Amino acid sequence: MKKKLKIATVFSGIGAPEQALNKLNVDYDIVFACDNDEIELKETLDEIKENFKKSEYKDIKKYVNDLYSNTKKPKYVKQAYFANYDIDENRWYPDIRFLDGKQYKDKVDLYIGGSPCQSFSIIGKRGGLEDTRGTLFYEYARLIKEIQPKAFIYENVPGMLMHDKGNTWKIIKDVFESLGYNVKYQILNSKDYGIPQDRRRLFVVGIKDKNVEFEFPKPKKLNKTMFDYLEKKVETKHYLGKKGFEFVTNPKYKNRARVNKDIIQTEKANQQFNWNGDFVFEEYDKVKNNKEILDRAYVGIFEGKKGVIRQLSYRECMRLMGFSDKYKIVVPNVPAYRQAGNSIVVNVMEEVLKELFKVVKF
Ligand SMILES: C[S@@+](CC[C@H](N)C(=O)[O-])C[C@H]1O[C@@H](n2cnc3c(N)ncnc32)[C@H](O)[C@@H]1O
Repeated sequence: MKKKLKIATVFSGIGAPEQALNKLNVDYDIVFACDNDEIELKETLDEIKENFKKSEYKDIKKYVNDLYSNTKKPKYVKQAYFANYDIDENRWYPDIRFLDGKQYKDKVDLYIGGSPCQSFSIIGKRGGLEDTRGTLFYEYARLIKEIQPKAFIYENVPGMLMHDKGNTWKIIKDVFESLGYNVKYQILNSKDYGIPQDRRRLFVVGIKDKNVEFEFPKPKKLNKTMFDYLEKKVETKHYLGKKGFEFVTNPKYKNRARVNKDIIQTEKANQQFNWNGDFVFEEYDKVKNNKEILDRAYVGIFEGKKGVIRQLSYRECMRLMGFSDKYKIVVPNVPAYRQAGNSIVVNVMEEVLKELFKVVKF
């Protein structure tokens, strides 16, 4: 039997790398995944550690799990992840800060994650992992040190390269290199990899074997537009009333809302709320016999034509992130849009993985 690829992800979200591996027909096992569902705990890291010591608990993972459960906040990321991938409670972690990677030493081929873009102002300047303590990047890098994967992929916003006049990136790159990895990085735009979304993201690939030269995938010509990703019919709730119609067609707000563009702007966590994001105009002829739509939607004029405007549906947003329709959408609308906007474009991940598989024998 062929060996399965062993992957581990952190800040796992809804699993773009898992989707990419599915599309590439690569057999894989999830060694672990980790996401805190954007829930903020009241206690600081030190307080949690201190309270754990004083408690009856023997296992910090169980203690932290209960802290998150006590917040009573819904765990929609976890719900989405469990609905779509082969995972169980033992391999799922609610917070990277309490994930002990030592138990997974040499058990992971490929480690993937993109820490949320938070302030890096606490990063020191002397170099080395300890300088980044207190950031979620530190936790990401600490796990590389503990697990020693054959390769890692780190994703973030392109602004990371410019932050603090380039100093933050210099430190981060130094940390990766000090951990013994050969590091390559590049900003990739999903519209160069087959998806009509203008989304630039920094990708970092680290390889343990110093004799291996990784190259980022070359851009391809885009031959699809947003219209190729639309559903035939979407729920009526997606249609805009008068205020919405007038807002999204007002050139004053063109940086926020756009209608009928071939290439959509970057999907964001707040997309489709307060008229942020990309919208679709449908000519009146198409909807004139649909009473349900006309009861809700405002019929207006867009570029000289009469019609209605609607949001992109969650499924369409997922398709425009490269997720196949096999992906099950199991959460309510606010988290569904949010999770799509937070994710990584699957097609870009696929192309990066293809290049990685050419040079690293897993
Ligand atoms: C920008 S999103 C990345 C999503 C992922 N790349 C995907 O494919 O869907 C960042 C994720 O980190 C999670 N997160 C934030 N703080 C965390 C922590 N302390 N431990 C684990 N996950 C955390 C958030 O809940 C969020 O899902």
